Amino acid sequence: MERRRIVAGNWKMNMTPAKTVELIATLRPLVESLDVDVVFCVPAIDIVPAITATRGTNIAIGAQNMYFEESGAYTGEISPQMLKEAGVKYVILGHSERREYFHETDEELNKKLKKAFEHGLTPILCCGETLEQREMGITLDFIRMQIKSDLNGIPASKVEEMVIAYEPIWAIGTGRTATTEQAEEVCKAIRDCIAEIYDDATAQSVRIQYGGSVNAGNASELFAQPDIDGGLVGGASLKPEFGKIVNCK
Ligand code: PGA
Repeated sequence: MERRRIVAGNWKMNMTPAKTVELIATLRPLVESLDVDVVFCVPAIDIVPAITATRGTNIAIGAQNMYFEESGAYTGEISPQMLKEAGVKYVILGHSERREYFHETDEELNKKLKKAFEHGLTPILCCGETLEQREMGITLDFIRMQIKSDLNGIPASKVEEMVIAYEPIWAIGTGRTATTEQAEEVCKAIRDCIAEIYDDATAQSVRIQYGGSVNAGNASELFAQPDIDGGLVGGASLKPEFGKIVNCK
């Protein structure tokens, strides 16, 4: 089955609303592509200007987080319907920075995933091991555990539409990319895990990205792997280089 490539930029906590409009004007002509889904995951306050600035283009806007309640006394949080009404299509859930600095648990992520689906948002669920876990040889077990707990109770019909990003924590923002073999090994293990929980058809539909120091030099080889359907790109997504990553062959 042909899966459509998806390349998403994770802007993290960068760019003010005014800078967002400028950066989109710079990147817009560079990321035009007929056969790749292009997503900019911007800070919450930049969502509205980003939606306006990308109207009529091939760029979809994503959020970097959301809460699992509909509304109410949750100071500082953003609800799925707020994102949906603003025109957001994707939402990154469970990025390692959120798991580490904001103590997000798999249990909370499971609730967030269910809510995102309920509101028609496409989650980009992140998973990934620490360097210590890799050195202990427990990478695949750990990732399988994350996937199984995060997807607990979510039907195959939803999972087949979602995106999973494998992001080894030791490769994020470090300039140290996983080797192509390491990245493919884990992305394949994620797909096998989906086949085990659901079925082959679901495993063949779900799109799996690699993330962690993706750049214009390593994207082609990574994205050419059979189980890697694109990338989640941090640092390089804020530069014209992102256009090369989107259009790499
Ligand atoms: P990086 O970040 O490309 O800067 O390593 C990736 C990510 O955290 O999504």
